[in-house]
Amino acid sequence: MKSIGVSDFLDFLIPLKKSDFVSEKVDEFLKSRTFSEDAFLPFIHFRDDTYGRNLVYRNEFFELAVLTWLPQHRTPIHDHANQRCWMLVEAGELTFKNYHPPTSDSAGLRPLGKSEVLKKGSPIYIDDDLAVHAITNASKKPAVSVHLYAGPIKECRIYNELTKRFEKKTLSYLTEGVWSPEGELIESRLCEPFLF
Ligand SMILES: [Fe+2]
Repeated sequence: MKSIGVSDFLDFLIPLKKSDFVSEKVDEFLKSRTFSEDAFLPFIHFRDDTYGRNLVYRNEFFELAVLTWLPQHRTPIHDHANQRCWMLVEAGELTFKNYHPPTSDSAGLRPLGKSEVLKKGSPIYIDDDLAVHAITNASKKPAVSVHLYAGPIKECRIYNELTKRFEKKTLSYLTEGVWSPEGELIESRLCEPFLF
């Protein structure tokens, strides 16, 4: 399988149009490639209190992010605000748990299938028609995952397990990639302020 770096992935993604993200193009690209060991190294920044969201690149059609997970870091159960989402584990292992799409903000949640533990390998895909989900690093080691979202969003809904209702959540990044017009990475810089 062909091994690629982040620039190769962006060279593929940036020319895509909105309609390309609802075609098979992304699946076909990802299924025939793997990322080199250090492909996402500049974007791997951990935080202590919760998982880290590090933006690699964003335009009007997609955002590419590296998420970092210390042991026991987890997302709430969340939806994806009509995004299409591809996820890959790049290091360590993560547990993905799906629930049936809720019929309303106050509808209860029903598990969908069993939890799935993923290691470095094939991408998985989710959107709101398929499921809502939670991701947990249930292992004893740090983990890194890569997430392609089409298109970018500013908020999603998270499930409040106490009130059993969905609530709006504003999303933010810990760091963001800064790119030159020639497509060279200048830096991956801390976003100030970051909220979570
Ligand atoms: Fe998600």
